[in-house]
Amino acid sequence: MRILVTGKNGQLGRSIQKIVNADTKIGNNQSPNDFIFVGREELNLSSESSISDYFNNKFDIIINCAAYTQVDKAEQEAELANQINHLAVKQLASIASNQRAKLIHISTDYVFDGESNKPYLETDTPNPINAYSRTKLAGESALKEIMPTNALIIRTSWLYSEYGNNFVSTMLSLGRERDEISVVNDQMGSPTYAADLAEAILEIIKHKKFRDLAQTTQIYHYSNEGRISWHEYAKEIFKIKKIECEVNPVTSQQYPMPAKRPRNSLMNKDKIVKVFNIKISNWKSSLNTCITILKKQQ
Ligand SMILES: NC(=O)c1ccc[n+]([C@@H]2O[C@H](COP(=O)([O-])OP(=O)(O)OC[C@H]3O[C@@H](n4cnc5c(N)ncnc54)[C@H](OP(=O)(O)O)[C@@H]3O)[C@@H](O)[C@H]2O)c1
Repeated sequence: MRILVTGKNGQLGRSIQKIVNADTKIGNNQSPNDFIFVGREELNLSSESSISDYFNNKFDIIINCAAYTQVDKAEQEAELANQINHLAVKQLASIASNQRAKLIHISTDYVFDGESNKPYLETDTPNPINAYSRTKLAGESALKEIMPTNALIIRTSWLYSEYGNNFVSTMLSLGRERDEISVVNDQMGSPTYAADLAEAILEIIKHKKFRDLAQTTQIYHYSNEGRISWHEYAKEIFKIKKIECEVNPVTSQQYPMPAKRPRNSLMNKDKIVKVFNIKISNWKSSLNTCITILKKQQ
């Protein structure tokens, strides 16, 4: 079994590596040696030739954690974001299809416009409202067209981890520097601890329903449980870390960003729970786990 994981230096890629390296046997007779983790040095998704050259190697499963993830910068770099999030995904799908490999691809809650008041279902119609999300949706569509079977798209939201820059690390540094900050309270969703998503992905690849040949390509939603605003999220981070910093609620209009964000990006996770028997933790308990790990690393 050869399992390729792209984006080895990103939040999700590193979270998968951590679990794989800690386990001598992942399950279904898989061992850490079955996994190959690659970064842009080995496989540059902004270059068509780098992708085709790299795939002289053959794989059984490809887990694509790499992406152009800078939501605001994508407004200025739409072409680069489109190459990585759309055209490279199209190329990966065609390679996976030729190699008869299964492909797991990660997408985003931001494919929705956020106008619904209910948690989004996988069958709801996407309507992206910024450049990043348009490229992510284009990647999903290309993948589904090229691989009508044997692929799986997992949409996740508000990803954070003990690695790299994310909302938790930003709040922790701001909280240390300032007495008060302003955070938007009119965008609702659910954070996702990358270690939880990594575990879910590793559960899925062990699952009989994933292993069965010629499964129709499906979309699944995954985040932690709960529904909060960024403002509540910031307050909880400070509460756990006992940081004295006032969090002032502001509207998205009062805090304009280059890229528009959906007002509601909460996703319904019933499908992934039912099909793959995935247990989903509440956002607060996972946030506590991440902050405890960060504390140990200091
Ligand atoms: N972060 C979020 O809040 C969020 C929310 C919803 C969905 N998602 C999706 O979840 C997935 C994982 O996100 P993440 O937070 O783990 O992302 P991340 O931490 O930003 O990592 C993305 C990885 O992609 C790599 N990458 C970027 N351009 C590349 C290129 N041209 N060639 C090869 N690799 C390249 C980066 O490499 P370098 O390290 O070399 O830069 C980085 O390691 C992505 O599909 C993302 O769209 C994320």
